[in-house]
Amino acid sequence: MRLLRLLVLLLVLPAYAQQGGMWIPSLLKGMNEKEMKSLGMKMSASDIYDVNHSSLKDAVPQFNGGCTSEVISSRGLLLTNHHCGFGEIQSHSTVEHDYLANGFWAMSLAEELPNPDLEVTFIVRIEDVTTQVLEGVASLTNEKDKQKKIQENISRLTNTLPKESWQGNSIRTFYEGNQYMRFVTETFEDVRLVGAPPSSIGKFGSDTDNWVWPRHTGDFSLFRIYAGKDNKPAKYSKDNVPYVPKHYFPVSIGGVKEDDFTMVFGYPGRTTEYLPAVAVEQIVNSLNPAKIEVRDAALKVADGFMRKDQAIKIQYAAKYAQIANYWKKWIGETQGLKKSNAVAIKKANEKDFLARVAKAGKQAEYGNLLADFEKNYNEIAPYALARDYFTEVVLRNTELLTTAYRLYQLEQIYNARGEQSFNDRRDNTILGLEEIYKNFNKNVDEKVFEQLIALYAAKSPKQFQPEILKGADLKAMTSEIYGSSKLTSYEGVKELLKGDAKTVIARLNEDKGYKLVKALTDAYNTNVAPKYDEINLRITGLQRTYMKGILELSPKDARIFPDANSTLRVTYGKVDGYQPKDATYYGPVTYLDGVMEKYIPGDYEFDVPQKLIDLYNKKDYGRYGENGKMPVCFIGTNHTTGGNSGSPAIDAKGNLIGLNFDRVWEGTMSDIYYDPSICRNIMVDMRYVLFIIEKYAGAKHLVDEMKVVTK
Ligand code: ARG
Ligand code: ASP
Repeated sequence: MRLLRLLVLLLVLPAYAQQGGMWIPSLLKGMNEKEMKSLGMKMSASDIYDVNHSSLKDAVPQFNGGCTSEVISSRGLLLTNHHCGFGEIQSHSTVEHDYLANGFWAMSLAEELPNPDLEVTFIVRIEDVTTQVLEGVASLTNEKDKQKKIQENISRLTNTLPKESWQGNSIRTFYEGNQYMRFVTETFEDVRLVGAPPSSIGKFGSDTDNWVWPRHTGDFSLFRIYAGKDNKPAKYSKDNVPYVPKHYFPVSIGGVKEDDFTMVFGYPGRTTEYLPAVAVEQIVNSLNPAKIEVRDAALKVADGFMRKDQAIKIQYAAKYAQIANYWKKWIGETQGLKKSNAVAIKKANEKDFLARVAKAGKQAEYGNLLADFEKNYNEIAPYALARDYFTEVVLRNTELLTTAYRLYQLEQIYNARGEQSFNDRRDNTILGLEEIYKNFNKNVDEKVFEQLIALYAAKSPKQFQPEILKGADLKAMTSEIYGSSKLTSYEGVKELLKGDAKTVIARLNEDKGYKLVKALTDAYNTNVAPKYDEINLRITGLQRTYMKGILELSPKDARIFPDANSTLRVTYGKVDGYQPKDATYYGPVTYLDGVMEKYIPGDYEFDVPQKLIDLYNKKDYGRYGENGKMPVCFIGTNHTTGGNSGSPAIDAKGNLIGLNFDRVWEGTMSDIYYDPSICRNIMVDMRYVLFIIEKYAGAKHLVDEMKVVTK
């Protein structure tokens, strides 16, 4: 009977039930090539990653540490998301030339705009260095000593493994410490802004549509990599020339349809797919709700001010979007984990694991693992909660506290390293704070503080809180701090920081805002951090052993991929719709008609530029339309996460068909539990990108620079 049910289950499971996973490009041959071909891929693994010949990986640099980008012409033209280039677009904008509002298009190389702090990094090759990194580790018994030895080995190898002088070495762990890989990299620092659509296209739908399908955002921007005359990385110089890449993507305007093979190549940041059920329960029931509640309060305050005051709206727009992004994600993630029964499924998997452990006679090594997890996660619970409150309230969402924290670090630097270090750091701090205070409004922050400090006092574990909060009149504390603290203005802070270290520190310790942060931080550093670190170190060890057990004891054909760690990965799947809820099906492609359906004239999220409306009314889509319609976005079963923004979506033959930028609401839990029936990534169709460049912006010279293919 059970066998029969299993058979039936196997038969009705759609092919994509097998998918999910972020794979290491150098290991595709053995692990994935066959499956990729069965899904329709026409390339071989070595077309994607090869050390001796150019391959797709040579066109996929990481963009400024946090996003992905791809080269799309023989002259170093680079594509990424609008939200990845946002900072650069903003930094070139002024009231007269507001590129965020109106877009920017360089009509010649001379008009391209340099960006001092922007860099992109290519991967030259990847090598397994597990044996070298773990040298001398097995004989150590204590987890702390093991970690120390590993870190020593990593720094030694990073400095000594052979590479060219202009290249870099970086070593990263995979499978929770069971494997180590070395990446040889090349970083280019002269990367110029070439083009960006107005935010009403590049950020269409803004926060309301963020993490949501159906989606209609043209989330792209264009840059160009410049190199020295020898085509090697070089610091910015006007004499630099467009970089000639080893590979660049042909751009396909052949279009996508349901079931087409897709592959996304990029730098996913962080996932935790192998947490035990007890850890997921903690996220769902305690940690996410706490973080959501804090941000909810902060966002409501900011929103209230932003709606009434245009100046505040501009000041807080970027901050608001950033806070709202993960606030919204955690809500979706929590719902998704519940709805997909992730905890129950994990518990069932753990039972299976223990059965396999018993069958293999490996109780001594793995038999206590799950009980140990349970014990340690229970023990860490209050510390983890206190840590999240400290991070969200002090370090992230109350600006006065965040600033005071930086100043407190100055005091600590003085105590640890003396006057010279203090002076260096102070100059840096003053410089960095100028930007922050430009967008600081005392009234907004006071209201945020009042709400957040109340949450902190009421809900972060009481036993770790400083005296200063116990029984305090928080309303009075709020007006006292915002009435007297010098931290409420840039001028005030500069005044606080004048003079020699001793004077500054004495002055700081008189300031009420500073005093509060010092009390909060000292309490955190004494009561929470050491214990948290100690338990967390044990958990890290358990997680490594658990991963080892999973790798060792899972069926031979199990698809076990390493968690994301900001290294280059391949994920693949198909263009596919999904059923978000009962009786509802979402198709996989959106069109310009949908932009017009959402259009709200003058709205800050859903306004549409007149020129785009005109093109729509005339159906003037050139070669980019399909049966009289203009495709905009599409979704697929590619397993992506934060960092994959800007990643190329590639067709079966290696052409660029889309640009990844988000995931669907119902599937945001894919960082913890990937459910192939509802997890989808969202991409802009390259036809929409080219249409906007050519027809909307009139920058056809950029399209002419690309290799456009129709199939
Ligand atoms: N949710 C996407 C990602 O995590 C896009 C974020 C940018 N857009 C926004 N409205 N904040 O990065
Ligand atoms: N929007 C994300 C990013 O910026 C991608 C994601 O989380 O799906 O990397």
